[in-house]
Amino acid sequence: MNDQTARARGVLDEAFGDSEEPVAVVSAPGRVNLIGGHTDYNEGFVLPAGIDRRTVVAARPRDDRTVRVRSSNFDQTTSFDLADVSPSEDAPWSDYVGGVAERLLDRGHDVGGTELAVVGDVPMGAGLSSSAAFEVAVGAALAAVHDLSLDDEELVTACWEAETEFVGLSCGIMDQYAAVHAERESALFLDCRDETHEDVPLPSEDVTVVATNTNVQRELVDSAYNDRVATCQEGVDFFDDALDEPVESLRDVSVEAFEAHASELPETVRKRVRHVVTENERVREAAAALREGRLDRVGTLLDESHASLRDDYEVSIDELDAVASIADDLDGVFGSRMTGAGFGGCVVTLVRPDVAEAVTAAIDERYRDRTGIEPDVHVCNPDGGVRRHDR
Ligand code: GLA
Repeated sequence: MNDQTARARGVLDEAFGDSEEPVAVVSAPGRVNLIGGHTDYNEGFVLPAGIDRRTVVAARPRDDRTVRVRSSNFDQTTSFDLADVSPSEDAPWSDYVGGVAERLLDRGHDVGGTELAVVGDVPMGAGLSSSAAFEVAVGAALAAVHDLSLDDEELVTACWEAETEFVGLSCGIMDQYAAVHAERESALFLDCRDETHEDVPLPSEDVTVVATNTNVQRELVDSAYNDRVATCQEGVDFFDDALDEPVESLRDVSVEAFEAHASELPETVRKRVRHVVTENERVREAAAALREGRLDRVGTLLDESHASLRDDYEVSIDELDAVASIADDLDGVFGSRMTGAGFGGCVVTLVRPDVAEAVTAAIDERYRDRTGIEPDVHVCNPDGGVRRHDR
């Protein structure tokens, strides 16, 4: 047990008293997406890695139908009845627990009363997917406590349904998938259409992954996100009519087909679709280049991805652009891009390990000088997916 797992057990006892019941302790990682911005809900490709910032859940059964949850980060304890799970007004963070429990029940799993304590160090609201880490850790903890027969595939799906159906963000599968399947020292080249992946090594002697939190979070991120999802659907409808082959998602639109019809599209739809179809190509190429150790090429693709997210998808903000351009001016930086949904949160930068310390110090200082905001610059070691710590 490490510090966080011991802490989760301690918080459980403090919040709910001692008990003879066996305790399961589970953790799941945040993730940083190296490339593939806003491609997952278009059934495209992404290249995320788990990070060594994890959400840890300690849990034990109760003999009734009540779920009680203590979150250290939110410094709040709340509870709900499994017979009537609905979104919480006073503790919205607990919707990740309610949502996962509700989806598991709906899928026929026999979830019973539970006490859970949640601790962890995945930065929240930073685009590093603290919510998926939370959902997956909760799902795996409920499975452990109630002996549910839940495989990895269903864990991903139930957590994704919790986010899309219960919490209400029309996100793709990437975050929940990465929180379950991530591997140490690797990224996942994930095909979001058939939900399969290949590991792509990310050896710590060759490359350091840095995530810089701009510490800016715009309002209405969820509505801007859902708006992008809807515009992509307009693109799907257009190409389904325009092409001979059926188009079920933008994954089915090649760069050539896009170019042949681009001038017929309204400007906003054209820009959004151009981002998605070119980004899918960049992800494929980045995965291949990473496998071959061509890190300069990977870096260039990250830079191009950032420009496309900024200019065509229009989900960047000045502070994200500032970090990306500061990083790109530094020696030993392969490339940089915004990661996550955008409108704030983090930039991911790939750096040569021997200069990682100098690069993080320089980003920290120059960003503060340029914006007056204190950033958080994290070196992220690619870490494994969900795991149990109590056995
Ligand atoms: C958020 C969503 C993901 C993905 C990214 C953008 O993190 O949760 O599913 O769409 O944005 O790439």
